[in-house]
Amino acid sequence: MTNSLNALKISNLRTSFFTRAGEACAVNGINLTVGKGEIVGLVGESGSGKTVTGFSIMGLIDEPGRIVEGSIELNGEDLVKASSKRLAALRGDRLAMIFQDPMMTLNPVMRIDEQMMETILIHHKVSKKEARIRSQKALEAVGIPSAADRLKAYPHELSGGMRQRVAIAIALINNPDVIIADEPTTALDVTIQAQILYLVRDLARNHDTGLIWVTHDLGVAAEIANRIAVMYAGRIVEQGPANEILDRPRHPYTEGLIRSLPEGQDDLARLYQIPGMTPSLLNLPKGCPFAPRCERAAELCHETLPDERNDGVVRYRCHYPSHLNSGGTLGSDQMAGGQPV
Ligand SMILES: Nc1ncnc2c1ncn2[C@@H]1O[C@H](COP(=O)(O)OP(=O)(O)OP(=O)(O)O)[C@@H](O)[C@H]1O
Ligand SMILES: [Mg+2]
Repeated sequence: MTNSLNALKISNLRTSFFTRAGEACAVNGINLTVGKGEIVGLVGESGSGKTVTGFSIMGLIDEPGRIVEGSIELNGEDLVKASSKRLAALRGDRLAMIFQDPMMTLNPVMRIDEQMMETILIHHKVSKKEARIRSQKALEAVGIPSAADRLKAYPHELSGGMRQRVAIAIALINNPDVIIADEPTTALDVTIQAQILYLVRDLARNHDTGLIWVTHDLGVAAEIANRIAVMYAGRIVEQGPANEILDRPRHPYTEGLIRSLPEGQDDLARLYQIPGMTPSLLNLPKGCPFAPRCERAAELCHETLPDERNDGVVRYRCHYPSHLNSGGTLGSDQMAGGQPV
């Protein structure tokens, strides 16, 4: 894929926090692309590095953290090399983030209209009148009733679901090329979660926006994503088309996530749980970071970190991918065989 088709291209990104206890490599050499109008589900357990990936893209990593290596190209421009002034100009315009807590976006002491109009006016030379019209349209687009009245409200006058809709409206208002949605529905009740999920999906599709949907829930990613990337201990251990990841996972960690999905299981009390714990980022094992929890791990897995391999459909980091063990549908002729991507 060339840059012109990718809204975002992340190459070998490494982001670390330099703590007293040592260097915690929260994002450990990830490669990820997001096409225009494409929805990528970024999935992984707590602490796997999803939010740090999002913050790295947005240029929001603060001390003691820093991007150590790699590039993040937005429409071909490397954000890692960009000045803080340039990043501020891109944020809220070409690049936006929807946070789990909408109050990360909203200012409690400003009216909704002021905040929305400001987001337009700092990036675009339009009249205040035009900015107000756009703000109202943006609220209507996210399904806020009586938008003209809501514009005059303060955030505390709205429900949690409504606040998140406003935060989404602000994220979308300048038609960004890339949106990162970081678990924006987890704090909301189930019906509203689903509404917001499909709303953001449709808005992103309609505007050809690349969307990264961050979630710990593979089921949610399966609902909306075209592609799924699975993170484990700072690495993307598997990525590919959503249906392929769900139907024929290569990585045993992804298999475990699928087995622990409640769908189709009659006995929820006995839901599968991947045994063991995620490794400490300060003390990663020298081989595959999943090996201590992996039923298939052999000596090689404990000794050597698997390279990222590409079998033409899915990229994965595993010495013994599932489809090769279980006689999956991919023939060996389709294997690119151990080529780091
Ligand atoms: N400011 C910080 N200082 C030190 N370590 C940090 C800091 N921020 C994040 N980390 C570490 O980076 C790792 C990845 O964190 P991150 O927040 O990206 O996880 P996550 O996948 O988003 O998890 P969750 O599902 O809980 O949101 C964690 O181990 C965390 O402790
Ligand atoms: Mg997070």
